Amino acid sequence: MAFMRLDKFLSDQGVASRKELKAIIRHGRVSVDGITVIKPETKIDSDVNRICVDGDLISYSKYRYFMLDKPCGILTATEDKKQKTVLELLSPEMRRMNLFPVGRLDKDTSGLLLLTNDGDFAHRVISPKFSVKKRYYAEVDGELTEEDEKAFKNGIELRDGLKCRPAELIRLGGKRCEVVLTEGKYHQVRRMLASVGKPVTLLRRLSIGTLELDKNLSEGEYRELNEKDLCKVFSAD
Ligand code: URA
Repeated sequence: MAFMRLDKFLSDQGVASRKELKAIIRHGRVSVDGITVIKPETKIDSDVNRICVDGDLISYSKYRYFMLDKPCGILTATEDKKQKTVLELLSPEMRRMNLFPVGRLDKDTSGLLLLTNDGDFAHRVISPKFSVKKRYYAEVDGELTEEDEKAFKNGIELRDGLKCRPAELIRLGGKRCEVVLTEGKYHQVRRMLASVGKPVTLLRRLSIGTLELDKNLSEGEYRELNEKDLCKVFSAD
């Protein structure tokens, strides 16, 4: 990494705002290679220097990745004048990281939503070209049948004539099912199930690739992804 200002480096890592960091640094709480530094404009190289705040090592990562268990009733957007967005569920530190949602879940859909500041990563997850599987749990009004399963396998034609890729409909008994897609058209699961006459009453995303929503998270909670998690996003089995 090229040299950069100490206060910029720390704000990029979500430690605090640039303004707060100026005070933190001036109060002698930051050290570079074990030596206290009091000038926010000090140039550092994070590949070489060890930067600590209050004794805690701050390691550099340009891109950050999180999973959120999105609750129903929240918009998948970075900002909205009237309604609460997923970014408002995050801590102040995370809100400084320029994160954005990877694709979208409808306001009334809950479950696995990825957040990142890495545009290429988001593109690879969303683009149908990469065929990343997204698995949903759904409950519907009506009994799901073998014919519905076949229709999904053959590629559903939506009511507006739009043709969907072949998809998996896994019947779990009665009104419950899982749906696996490799594309993400607007309201796709709801529209596919509506087109076989089974309106969705509940929808929750369970996984992306082989990365499952962490069962230790409650709705509205999130955690950072590690290398293993990131590999799972692009793995098929
Ligand atoms: N399909 C839908 O209909 N809604 C979502 O939020 C995601 C997939």
